[in-house]
Amino acid sequence: MEIIHDVQAFQQRMLAERQQGKKISFVPTMGFLHQGHLSLLEEGRGRGDLLVLSIFVNPTQFGPNEDFDSYPRALQRDAELAAKTGVDILFAPEADAMYPQGSATTVQVTGLSEGLCGASRPGHFDGVTTVVNKLFNLVQPHVALFGMKDFQQLAVIRKMVSDLNMPITILGMPIVREPDGLAMSSRNTYLSDDLRRQGLSLIASIRSVCESAVAGQRDAATLIAQARDIISAQPDARIDYIQICHDETLQDLEQVDEHAVILLAVRFSTTRLIDNHYLLQP
Ligand code: PAJ
Repeated sequence: MEIIHDVQAFQQRMLAERQQGKKISFVPTMGFLHQGHLSLLEEGRGRGDLLVLSIFVNPTQFGPNEDFDSYPRALQRDAELAAKTGVDILFAPEADAMYPQGSATTVQVTGLSEGLCGASRPGHFDGVTTVVNKLFNLVQPHVALFGMKDFQQLAVIRKMVSDLNMPITILGMPIVREPDGLAMSSRNTYLSDDLRRQGLSLIASIRSVCESAVAGQRDAATLIAQARDIISAQPDARIDYIQICHDETLQDLEQVDEHAVILLAVRFSTTRLIDNHYLLQP
């Protein structure tokens, strides 16, 4: 596996690979890799001739009071995992090289990026779409893989790719969970044992609500109240949102149907956990 830090060298390399007719799979991440990231890489490996991973803790998607400085970083460990998983090229740029002084362009997807996480993290998705657009321009992938863990992010990126006619296939991959059901996240490392236990209320509420929906309860407000009761029973839980939305428009639904997804964001002390699940699908 080759590790490239320099932006221009990386772009030249990717152009050359593409000219040779390689089919390129790309997985953008912020590193501190876990099995969720690796599942994207494993799928990506089978989808192209060249597997490219980026690791970049993107400053523009963090708010002023968020965890940019403390976000976990472990490039050497990540590089070992990436090599074992079959990554061909690891791109790990520096922030000043990605955003040289004077950078003035932002890519913004209106609508989809405004509710849910966008409401409590203003500007977050502008940071995501801008950096993903830049990475797409550098890599020029045929296929790019994203996790459904960040359900809204996936919807926003699909919309950007469609609105801007980007010739890239976006694949959304299932959420990888710990054995006890906690959705894997680089941020789980912030949780104490006690908070981690409390964090399991997300998956507990998802399971309970899905059971009710499958058994015939289709009223979204009733299901949301059910999830809220389970999570509020945890002493440190501060609910950011619990919503039941249409999977493509992300608009709130009143009645559950096959498009219905429950999306949750809950703070446990300073750590914010997100999770989601289709209500009527396994
Ligand atoms: P990061 O949080 O590192 O996630 C990188 C990719 O891994 C995303 O597509 C995310 O949805 C996926 N992922 C994370 N946890 C997962 C899990 N438990 N199961 C399945 N997939 C999972 O998302 C970002 O980075 C950034 O916003 C990025 C897109 C790289 C732009 O900076």
